[in-house]
Amino acid sequence: MRIITIVTYLFLLSFAGSLFANEVNIFSARHYDSDVQLYEKFTAKTGIKVNVVSGKSGALEKRIIEEGEDSKADLYITADAGRLGAFEANLQGGLTSAAIKSAVPSNFRTSKWTGIAKRARIVYFAPERVSGAELAGLTYESLADPKWKGRLVIRASNNIYNQSLVASLIKNNGKGKVADWSKGMVANMARSPKGNDRAQILAVAAGEADIAVANTYYLALMLSGKKGAEQQAAAKKVKPFFPNQDGRGTHMNISGAGLVKGAPNKKKCNKIS
Ligand SMILES: [Fe+2]
Repeated sequence: MRIITIVTYLFLLSFAGSLFANEVNIFSARHYDSDVQLYEKFTAKTGIKVNVVSGKSGALEKRIIEEGEDSKADLYITADAGRLGAFEANLQGGLTSAAIKSAVPSNFRTSKWTGIAKRARIVYFAPERVSGAELAGLTYESLADPKWKGRLVIRASNNIYNQSLVASLIKNNGKGKVADWSKGMVANMARSPKGNDRAQILAVAAGEADIAVANTYYLALMLSGKKGAEQQAAAKKVKPFFPNQDGRGTHMNISGAGLVKGAPNKKKCNKIS
């Protein structure tokens, strides 16, 4: 979290350094207290007010596109490189300061956007039904193994987290192999995909499945009690496992930020380098 804080702070600072305006407009699909604290610190340090428009990524993107030149959006923040990539045509680049380059590994940014926080998409398991021997050497690829038949849950494939995971598998294994893998995954499912990532963890805790695929931070969120005592108790019944440790490693993704094309402060923002 500390690293994330520093990274976010650095890019906001870079962003502001080229502005004379005393406010910036952030369209954010993130809803974390930590972000609000960062904005407050930023304002305290620079005197620049941070206006935040919160919403779901789809709605924010639609609004930015529809408002076009009239849009007040300077910075767009959302989760997943897949989403940022799909929105790249509406981003102008420019978050390329030396501070960002030194703080954010090059695989977590492009010329159009930069990562500000990272997460892993991992496997959760029920310790009483999944042995250490079964888990040993587990990969995303091996989730299609018939030994998991009727034991796996994962959210629907129209979700960007899964689409990014599949994109990484295609990049590493090729389309043909991934097509076969998808069929194996479907054959192993304990139920038709439903619900969000936390719903998959809950299914494992309830005994409906033995393993689930979900992002790391959801376990922490559930354990915190912020989603209620029931989810907190469920989270204590599952354990996390990071796949592909003997090969390329676990699939990572980011939350990221990009300067919006036609942002009111575009000319000044473009001086960032
Ligand atoms: Fe999420």
